[in-house]
Amino acid sequence: SPYGASGFETSDLVETMKKTGKKAIVFYGSQTGTAEDYALKFAKEFQSKFKIPTMTADLADVSFENLQNIRDEIPDFKLAAFFMATYGEGEPTDNAIEFFDYLDNECDELPDLKYVCFGLGNSTYEFYNAIGKKTVEQLNSKGASLIGELGLGDDGKGTMDEDYLEWKDKLFDLIKDQLHLEEQAVKYEPSIAVVENEKLTTSSPLVSLGEPNSHYLNPKTDEEVKLLKTGPFDHTHPYLAPIQNTKELFNSETRHCIHAEFDLSNTNLKYSTGDHVAIWPSNSNEKVEKFLAILGLTEKKDKVIDLKSLDPTTHLPFPTPTTYDTVLRHYLEISGPVSRQFVKSARQFCPDSETEAKIPAIADDKDIFHKNVTEKYLNIADCLEVLSSGVKWDTIPFSFIIESVAKLQPRYYSISSSSSMEKQTVHVTAVVEQEKPSTSDHYVTGVATNLLLDIKKHQNKEESKLIDNFDLEGPRGKFHNKLPIHIRRSTFKLPSNPATPIILVGPGTGAAPFRGFIREKIKQVENGVNIGEILFFFGCRKSTEDFIYKEEWVEYAKKLDNKFKMITAFSRETEKKVYVQDKLLENAAKVVELLDKGAFFYVCGDAANMARAVQLALVKIYQEQKKVTEDIAMTMGKQLRVNNRYQEDVW
Ligand code: FAD
Ligand code: 2AM
Repeated sequence: SPYGASGFETSDLVETMKKTGKKAIVFYGSQTGTAEDYALKFAKEFQSKFKIPTMTADLADVSFENLQNIRDEIPDFKLAAFFMATYGEGEPTDNAIEFFDYLDNECDELPDLKYVCFGLGNSTYEFYNAIGKKTVEQLNSKGASLIGELGLGDDGKGTMDEDYLEWKDKLFDLIKDQLHLEEQAVKYEPSIAVVENEKLTTSSPLVSLGEPNSHYLNPKTDEEVKLLKTGPFDHTHPYLAPIQNTKELFNSETRHCIHAEFDLSNTNLKYSTGDHVAIWPSNSNEKVEKFLAILGLTEKKDKVIDLKSLDPTTHLPFPTPTTYDTVLRHYLEISGPVSRQFVKSARQFCPDSETEAKIPAIADDKDIFHKNVTEKYLNIADCLEVLSSGVKWDTIPFSFIIESVAKLQPRYYSISSSSSMEKQTVHVTAVVEQEKPSTSDHYVTGVATNLLLDIKKHQNKEESKLIDNFDLEGPRGKFHNKLPIHIRRSTFKLPSNPATPIILVGPGTGAAPFRGFIREKIKQVENGVNIGEILFFFGCRKSTEDFIYKEEWVEYAKKLDNKFKMITAFSRETEKKVYVQDKLLENAAKVVELLDKGAFFYVCGDAANMARAVQLALVKIYQEQKKVTEDIAMTMGKQLRVNNRYQEDVW
């Protein structure tokens, strides 16, 4: 960890466990940090409930050779747990690649290993929880024994928390029996200490106020100075990128879509067309203030605090010294939905007995919790306020908040520029998450997209009076018109032969990467390259409302001459909704003609419904046009995928 105190003097697992007296280990294969958050939660509860010293470990941080003889080395070793996220098209997360390498090539057998496994996946994707399943398959084939069942967490249905709770509650009973453990009442035992620092103030450059890479705030070596300027910037070291230009893409009072341009010219950051950019957001003033208030920390928000790791195997999740405000603003996911587990465990810190009495009735039952909390779109602060009828929860240790609230994660966007046309600028096309659901009494907003909206208003002076939501100036002026970003490579790429035709299906912000693709094609034409046909299916509600980049497509068509054809589906202009898949069916003959010429087929946007509907439409098209059975048509569709000619960038 960049924040030190990881405690791993060695990557040798057994040695670390022996030195620290640990008897159980929870591994995580995590890309964005969700699996890590669940692993930490599980380890803490397991340790507290069964009084078994437990550590967590990033799969990339340990060498596995000793997993085989762990029981010889640590005779009272109890349990290994695996929290495995599935990423992209059924792939392991970056930090789990070596683990599977080890299982495939080096590991002979693991007969003594008792383990549990929870997979984190998304059922709207084809390879649902593939990595959780693969972990169990591989470990079992080596003779390890799985306790209970593989847990399946489903982000697609938004039930990850409940899936986890159900799996964990059942599993703890089984573990207790099978491992002959004594159960205790779960009590919070801090792994991190938060101590107020009486000497430092926020004017000290030593204090982190949320600047990215702030462990280099006072670079001591030339190497650190260089790192701060040139990177490498990656998913742990984002670059604070200037935002050159922003504009509104919708013609609507109530719905917004922001185009923003990030300048990479002062870095060695590079991207290629079709990649993703990750934006590291911060929480709004409104949300931070509300959270501070319910914890009774408003007066102390800028007080400097030191974080210390109390367990040598626990690393600090963010830089220290810092402030209460910084932690809530930059590092914790405070505005999303509150989990039932959080409410249940907060009960031990209730400000009064009435609140304490109230919690079981709300949090013990999944359906009652859903009705009273989830359906009302309450976040943590809202929920605490409702539970205590406004009484401050100054009884909750801040370390509990740090350890129980999920870490604020970067948000990914399909880059909408072309690396050939704009080498040092990344364009983002983001629809602003802002709605008032019928079951809620307040607007529900997304963190990153509302921050982008505020930056856009701020850049447009006439609208700047509207801005009071985000701290856009940032600490020490560092965030002025800037946001931390990093680039993530994707496999969503144009065919290597420019003459290959392409079919693009991208309704709504699904058009984002296709704007990049089309700009790339224009560059190819300008360079005298012969390009293949481009058939672009776009959909939105109304041609006059949310038709993003409406004027640009016309310009592109002129530049690409007869090679570019755009087909639009406006869903709310006619009585019956028209979607991109309807337009695909209408143009079946053309689609098949291009596919027969070797066309690549691309889909981008909504994973839950649109991507599947498009897939089905293609099967239907093959069936009709090729006069084949549904089975054969499906095989033809699958073959396209196998040949990498059917690519999806969906979320
Ligand atoms: P978040 O803060 O993450 O909120 C998510 C949702 O939860 C919102 O709808 C919000 O209103 C709701 N919410 C907030 N608070 C609560 C609460 N208390 N209870 C219940 N619900 C709540 N998006 C694009 O616009 N353009 C793109 O090109 C694009 N490309 C993507 C590419 C990839 C590979 C992926 C994975 C995603 C992509 N996305 C894209 C989606 C994007 O990453 C974000 O998820 C999206 O912009 C929302 O981010 P946010 O921070 O604004 O919302
Ligand atoms: P709707 O909101 O009017 O239903 C971009 O969001 C466009 O995608 C909108 O026109 C939206 O239509 C449409 N859309 C919604 N659900 C869809 C689905 N299942 N398949 C394809 N397009 C869809």
